[in-house]
Amino acid sequence: MTPRICPSILSADFVNLESELRAISGADLVHVDVMDNHFVPNLTLGLPIVERVVQVSPIPVDAHLMIADPDRWAPAYAEAGAQSVTFHAEAATAPVRLARELRRLGSRAGLALRPATSIEPFIDLLPELDMLLIMTVEPGFGGQSFIEATLPKIERARAAIDAAGLPIWLQVDGGISASTIERAAAAGADTFVAGSAVYGAEHAASAVSELRALASD
Ligand code: DX5
Ligand code: ZN
Repeated sequence: MTPRICPSILSADFVNLESELRAISGADLVHVDVMDNHFVPNLTLGLPIVERVVQVSPIPVDAHLMIADPDRWAPAYAEAGAQSVTFHAEAATAPVRLARELRRLGSRAGLALRPATSIEPFIDLLPELDMLLIMTVEPGFGGQSFIEATLPKIERARAAIDAAGLPIWLQVDGGISASTIERAAAAGADTFVAGSAVYGAEHAASAVSELRALASD
């Protein structure tokens, strides 16, 4: 398994996004955190910026929607050309209908779970998904510490995906760094979001390579 590294532009310089995107062209996907100040207590960016990021990014866009009512808003991110669109289980009214709509529009459908949300109620829905995102911090802010108590949930998610025999990516997001990525990989994650560990590093490109090497061991 070659791990996928997804730098989060939440920790990038928003005024120089084009060069910040170029700096991570060796990564697999660029992770874009959309926050609406309702689902999480923070406000970041929305559809017009994601549309532009899709146009200028050298790598595919992974949109993480931390928003209320994704049933209404998420399809527009697929239409904007995000390769992957992830919505939160806690916010969606009809996750299966929404996942099918995202796929119909040509995106990969991702379902995200907050740290306190169990995976078990969603295991039967795995065939409807292309990615499962286990949050390893409470969503809302970059730079938080990895919650170790999420590791057993990552292991259970990996077991469920393998048991289903489906090619679903298992993503982790929050507090992923050189000191935590190996534990997340050992638990079964294969797709890693890293904000501060990439954009807080002196050389973003080297940070991406280092994280990928650590997750591959
Ligand atoms: C947090 C966001 C993350 C954030 C991760 O709610 O979903 O994607 O950018 O930042 P780090 O890697 O600094 O924890
Ligand atoms: Zn995120």
